[in-house]
Amino acid sequence: MNVKIAPSILASDFSEVGKTVQKLQESGADYVHCDVMDGNFVPPITFGDQMVGAIRPHTSLPLDCHLMVTSPETRVQAFVKAGADIITVHVEACADLVKTLRAIRASGVKAGAVLNPATPVEAIFPAVREADMLLVMSVVPGWGGQKFIPASLQKIARLRAYCIEAGRADADIEVDGGITEDNVKEVIAAGANVIVAGSTVFRAADMAATIRRLRG
Ligand code: DX5
Ligand code: ZN
Repeated sequence: MNVKIAPSILASDFSEVGKTVQKLQESGADYVHCDVMDGNFVPPITFGDQMVGAIRPHTSLPLDCHLMVTSPETRVQAFVKAGADIITVHVEACADLVKTLRAIRASGVKAGAVLNPATPVEAIFPAVREADMLLVMSVVPGWGGQKFIPASLQKIARLRAYCIEAGRADADIEVDGGITEDNVKEVIAAGANVIVAGSTVFRAADMAATIRRLRG
């Protein structure tokens, strides 16, 4: 599968977000990963749909919105309006995961489901036939710059095997947290094809070269 790179703007300077997303696009990024945190599902607060709307005119890259919020179903329409291309919701946060994924798709936007490191991989299986993308958190959500949790590799492999079994070999599997040029090859070998990277991309001396190397 084609590997896509989704740099997380969480690691960037929010006062320059327009310029940042332009630079990501020039540097060959595939998506812009937007980490939405509500101070409730996770302790920090980052930004919401208004920020996504402000970013929208500055890039034609798909905006990959990772909603770390409680009751994400109440927020979907606001992110659709803001111009999100992918909306990903946590299995731990949804009262009815399948219903939420269907509502996202019905709005013409790609739907994603994501699970925390402590959540068993089976919790995301009901999403496999309903989602365009499945996201495996490889750190506890809330903060950038953490260390990759190695047990995530087995989870990715089990999820890829389940997708193939379920006739969804085409499903995107995204991995988020602690990805570096050193561990990305293992992550891709386990079955992931969308790579989120925050600190690795924004600390890079040469952003374009780093994005190229992250493709494995
Ligand atoms: C964590 C966020 C991640 C984070 C990744 O809650 O979902 O997207 O920004 O940052 P790094 O790549 O620095 O671990
Ligand atoms: Zn994220």
